[in-house]
Amino acid sequence: MRLTREEKEMLEGKYGYPVQKSMEILVGLGECYDAERMIPVASAHLLDSLSIGKAGALFNEEMADKGGKFVTFTDANPLSIEPYSWEDLGFSEGSVREQMAIIHNYTRMGLFLSNTCTPYLVGHYPRPGEHIAWSESSAVIFANSVLGARTNREGGFSSLAAALTGRVPEYGYHLDRNRYGDLEILVTANLKDIHDYGALGYFTGKVAKDKVPVLIGIPPSVSQDELKHLGAAEAASGSVALYHVVGVTPEAPTREAAFGPKKARDWETFELGEKELRETKELLSKATTRETDLVVFGCPHASIGEIKEIAQLLLGKKLNSGVELWISTSWIVKSYAEKMGHMDIIEAAGARILCETCPSAMPWGFLKGRGHKVAATNSAKLAFYLTGGQHDLSMHYGSTERCVEAATSGVWK
Ligand code: F3S
Repeated sequence: MRLTREEKEMLEGKYGYPVQKSMEILVGLGECYDAERMIPVASAHLLDSLSIGKAGALFNEEMADKGGKFVTFTDANPLSIEPYSWEDLGFSEGSVREQMAIIHNYTRMGLFLSNTCTPYLVGHYPRPGEHIAWSESSAVIFANSVLGARTNREGGFSSLAAALTGRVPEYGYHLDRNRYGDLEILVTANLKDIHDYGALGYFTGKVAKDKVPVLIGIPPSVSQDELKHLGAAEAASGSVALYHVVGVTPEAPTREAAFGPKKARDWETFELGEKELRETKELLSKATTRETDLVVFGCPHASIGEIKEIAQLLLGKKLNSGVELWISTSWIVKSYAEKMGHMDIIEAAGARILCETCPSAMPWGFLKGRGHKVAATNSAKLAFYLTGGQHDLSMHYGSTERCVEAATSGVWK
């Protein structure tokens, strides 16, 4: 790789151990992907849940102990525990201590404490064309696709290294040539709400895998929340990091612009009609019993608009005994909900807003340990993650309204 004089000095240790170690990581990564040079980044988004593992936590502690400081605007993803009501929710003291140590070390390096997977909802809003180093697949795909910023799907180590040096190797989605469409998704189904868009995303991720899909047939009135759920699901069922919606997203004013130099013979077209939409929802809704004991919203973290909708649906109602309803969001959006009165309605119904946490990143066996067996959600990403791995719950997938109905009746209808 061609390094500037300053970057060579970073690598030689002139700016201290954390910068040197970080530059070693970034040069190694750049060489793997044949990057020719480093480019400056305008911000970084880090992973800070317990999923970074012992190695990640030790590395982060070492960087903080040796004086590492973030040189670009840096924030981080949700935690594995809920820091405000952890005891009440049943998180162990050990997991809270471990989690807080990670955050403490990041804070020593200058972390902006938003702890959310929707940083763009709380002021971390990159400009079109801006190079950034973000981890968290749902945030990456939103930044690339909806905001037109440029980032690869960074991991824990590479995003931390970028935060400490202000650099990333130039490869992947930082380059124009990798941002054009690879396949087409023709949407002929009538999409009505975020759970329909999540199903479209799940379908798209499955066929696109790690390629760039171009979606055609989505109305310009599509909302930011719908695009958020669309992208999160694409990044969950596949490893999509960038999508285009013709007539909607910034790099796709037309179909031609979205595909760039490619010709129609270069790509395959897939159709999502009513049949595919129904089949995808069935795939996500695997529970065999109609009972529900946990309803979860806010994956990705809920916007104030989503919270308002849930509060309106809960107005004057009570949750069925034995059912919990959680809305996951950032502390900043929660404070809007408090100020606007939504929080009072939600709490009066017996539901709660969880802050700075991620239901999917909660410790191994935590949900089952609380007695949860069958959950319901309007998030395709969460339906995917809660059914497998450490959680292994049965899942109902449906609209926000249907989920609230299940929370108040205890039955999925
Ligand atoms: Fe966010 Fe966790 Fe969902 S990080 S996107 S709430 S899986």
